[in-house]
Amino acid sequence: MEQFFATCPRGLERVLADELAALGARDVSPVDGGVAFGGDLTLCYAANLESRVASRVLWQVGHARYRSEHDVFDAARVLPWPRLFDVRRTLRVNVSAIKSPLKSLDFITLRVKDAACDAFRAARGARPDVNTESPDVRIHVFLTRDQATFYLDTSGDPLFKRGWRITGGDAPLRENLAAGILKLAGWSAPTPLYDPMCGGGTFLVEAAMMALDAAPGANRSFGFEKLENFEEKTWRALRDKARARRKPAHALPIHGSDKSGTVLGLARDNLAAAGIAGAVQLKQMDILDGAPPAAAGIAVMNPPYGERLGDDAELAAFYPKLGDALKQRYAGWTAYIFTADLRLAKLIGLKASKRTPLYNGALECRLFEYKLIAGSMRRTTGI
Ligand SMILES: C[S@@+](CC[C@H](N)C(=O)[O-])C[C@H]1O[C@@H](n2cnc3c(N)ncnc32)[C@H](O)[C@@H]1O
Repeated sequence: MEQFFATCPRGLERVLADELAALGARDVSPVDGGVAFGGDLTLCYAANLESRVASRVLWQVGHARYRSEHDVFDAARVLPWPRLFDVRRTLRVNVSAIKSPLKSLDFITLRVKDAACDAFRAARGARPDVNTESPDVRIHVFLTRDQATFYLDTSGDPLFKRGWRITGGDAPLRENLAAGILKLAGWSAPTPLYDPMCGGGTFLVEAAMMALDAAPGANRSFGFEKLENFEEKTWRALRDKARARRKPAHALPIHGSDKSGTVLGLARDNLAAAGIAGAVQLKQMDILDGAPPAAAGIAVMNPPYGERLGDDAELAAFYPKLGDALKQRYAGWTAYIFTADLRLAKLIGLKASKRTPLYNGALECRLFEYKLIAGSMRRTTGI
């Protein structure tokens, strides 16, 4: 059995652990920022192909205790790099650390690259070239206080790059974060889903892919294809099976709107690129003016962040109005609001039934849950 580590946005570790367990992973163990698990090569391919929440799947190829830079070099030097990938592949090394006493991670990056190249020179008489922009092979080193773990990245491009996004829009969410939020919200078809501030449509595309049982990685390439142990037949069989099970696009109970017509055009382009134009209903609308598309369902939204000067005050004025709109017109719905602006909780004037800390990169965010029950949220007149 091989050991793997799948990384994910912080806050989604348990959701990822459930996904991996469902794929047949063993010894599934969530830690900060990812999930360790065991399995064979086929499971590694399946995790890359099927996980909606993972950012990368790393394959553990070495592990050692260390005290100095030399120890890390020596541990890297004895690993069988020339058997793991071809000398003609380009290479990049990434180092991350928690509580490591070593002074310079840049220096460790260099030394691990040197160690791998020395191993190639000794075994093959030549060394691989470095390419930091788009390498064929990525080596990841993870340092704790006294342990160094070496991984080969089996994903290549991060897994949130599904291949469907053609336009960005206004601060789009990463696809795996959006999918994780949908899972935290417990959404599944046929419950209506509505994003009233849909921007480029990340929630909408991810939800539609879930409803159609479309594997998120069915139309992209992966790092494992560049490794010496690549089993092309196994991979093709897995991918073809996933492609075959995908349901044909049809009208889904998934709705999006945005107050900007231009932005809605971007969502339309993204949906078309994902092959699901027509499956999702889009409408230009200001959330403060219009009504939701069904009597009940799950609303999920990601209000604008304050980026420009003056935005902060504008947002502070927007939140109470958003709260009022939800109170007045969304009885029967459960709303999930994802934001980095922690003032929202106070200013929206609704009582959250759940607050989940999540990270968008390094940015601390919250997912607030509001159960909008008919009647109970109305203000009393005091008579
Ligand atoms: C942060 S973006 C959403 C990004 C989206 N989740 C994505 O992944 O592409 C916020 C969106 O809210 C929209 N918006 C702002 N105020 C709105 C309002 N009052 N009604 C509807 N949409 C609004 C903006 O046009 C923008 O597209």
